[in-house]
Amino acid sequence: MAETKKMLRALAGEKLDTPPIWMMRQAGRYLPEYKATRAQAGDFLSLCYNSDLAAEVTLQPIRRYGFDAAIMFADILLVPQALGADLWFVTGEGPRLSTITTQAGFDALKPADAIHDKLAPIYETLRILSRELPDETTLIGFAGAPWTVATYMIAGRGTPDQGPAHALRQENPVLFEALLDRITEATIDYLSNQIKAGAEVVKLFDSWAGSLKGDDFNKYALEPCRRITSALKARHPDTPIIGFPRGAGEKYIGFAKATGVDCVALDNGLNADWAAEHVQVDGCVQGNLDPAHMVTGGQPLIDATRAVVRSFSNGPHIFNLGHGITPDANPENVQLMIDTVRAG
Ligand code: CP3
Repeated sequence: MAETKKMLRALAGEKLDTPPIWMMRQAGRYLPEYKATRAQAGDFLSLCYNSDLAAEVTLQPIRRYGFDAAIMFADILLVPQALGADLWFVTGEGPRLSTITTQAGFDALKPADAIHDKLAPIYETLRILSRELPDETTLIGFAGAPWTVATYMIAGRGTPDQGPAHALRQENPVLFEALLDRITEATIDYLSNQIKAGAEVVKLFDSWAGSLKGDDFNKYALEPCRRITSALKARHPDTPIIGFPRGAGEKYIGFAKATGVDCVALDNGLNADWAAEHVQVDGCVQGNLDPAHMVTGGQPLIDATRAVVRSFSNGPHIFNLGHGITPDANPENVQLMIDTVRAG
């Protein structure tokens, strides 16, 4: 049967009259219904591990807006927690983790295949969503890319320049690479189980890829993504994979070919015409409206949305923001963006 889901058609390389659309962090604090369900769960991590409520917040933006894809509600830092790191969130500040900076710290981590008990509720969220999503909506699973996850495991928190991870990479490359390997193996197993539980597409978030320069980018962003992609393709040849090497700049050129991903997600630092010429030539791209428009709205939002659509109109494209929507966004601006994209 010919594929009917718009998202999967674009990922297969089809150029559509109007692109499918979804939004990074589409279930989030800009929505009052999200905040209500999070309060019901108690806190963010309890929400992630409560399969019924995680499925509910995943469905909220689908009901409100009819996006073409739903991304399961979870977080990239659940993998370090499943490997044995302590994880908590400080309200208004962000994540905190116990740090891995020594061989002894690394040796205390669990093996990659020991993560699944802790992550079982995530697989259950996907099974619920497979049953409950509308027929036309594509279900996306995800994980953090090894470098980005490692930056949090090493520093114990988000950092402006990923300094602690760069320091460990230079001072103890053996330990750094062992940590990256452990995350890579866990990520392959985690994404494979997500696919078995119903994810139709998986996305690898390398939010801090941009701080790796030159050959370090190739070794620590591109190569782990290639390894994960090739292992997943061997097990699940029909499941499309989206890579997101955020901030990679010129390193976006050739990234899809070198890693085997079916689509690259573009950040809003990239000029869309440049990306169409240099990146979309190799296949489907996703992006890349500046999330700030979801706060400011109005005619500039309409103009910028049309410009992104126009730039990518000669090839396969999935419309999205260039990064996650922020908590101060106005839900009405999201509707305006969707109406503008779908008006063609
Ligand atoms: O996109 C979605 O709607 C799916 C769910 C999702 C979340 N986090 C929920 C979340 C996804 C795909 C992520 C990915 C994620 N998590 C990334 C990569 C993408 C990116 O944004 O660059 C990163 C780096 C993280 C780690 C993380 N989680 C941070 C740094 C924070 C704190 C910052 C913040 O926005 O508060 C989180 C918390 C988080 N993850 C929230 C949500 C909805 C907000 C928590 C809350 O409700 O209080």
